[in-house]
Amino acid sequence: MESLYGGALHRRVTIADLLAAKVRGEKWAMLTSYEQMTAEIFDEAGIPVLLVGDSAGNNFLGESNTIPVTVDELIPLTRAVVRSSKQALVIADLPFGSYESSPEQALATSTRFFKEAGAMGVKIEGPHIATVEKLVASGALALEKAGAFAIVLELVPAELAAKITAALKIPTIGIGAGVDCDAQVLVWTDMMGITKNPPKLAKAYRNMRSEMLAVANEFAAEVKAGQFPAAEHTFN
Ligand code: KIV
Repeated sequence: MESLYGGALHRRVTIADLLAAKVRGEKWAMLTSYEQMTAEIFDEAGIPVLLVGDSAGNNFLGESNTIPVTVDELIPLTRAVVRSSKQALVIADLPFGSYESSPEQALATSTRFFKEAGAMGVKIEGPHIATVEKLVASGALALEKAGAFAIVLELVPAELAAKITAALKIPTIGIGAGVDCDAQVLVWTDMMGITKNPPKLAKAYRNMRSEMLAVANEFAAEVKAGQFPAAEHTFN
């Protein structure tokens, strides 16, 4: 593959594609997705990796944070994103409490995501940044040896993120970690300007919240005024 973007792939992006993009120095974008419509749209846009993040908690499931999210809640969302995309590599978050007890627990939970949802990879949180810093300083690429295909650097100082990116063969995916990461991820509702109180690290490219509010108001006003449905929206 010459580029992760530009042109229909007719197949899924693979981890090998992401590693090759790093060698070429091609940066790429990752977005969260929790259901069919955004999966279809972002896949059509050529976003190479979609993350069914535990951010579904406060962006889809009505929770105030990610802690209550369960495996049983994330599996159907992941399955919807897999079914609704053709090219993207779909990664699922292992939610809090579903992998930390033991490697066996992590494997069993991952297996459910692969088997029941068709996930192509899973993401776990940790280790603490100080541990990552030590790993990089010692030159021990334990993450790669353990089989990690990428690492998300969230709120990591840009200079350190750049050092980690240079030290690793696997891609780094930044969020609030500066421009030198190999890839960047955003929560899709933050990117579209739908989230009510978005984090500072997120960029809202549009204000879709006010756009959606306006459309809902327009529809309601037309119904009230007897303007909707018009003849073309009426069965006869
Ligand atoms: O759950 C999520 O959306 C994430 C991203 C912020 C990386 O983990």
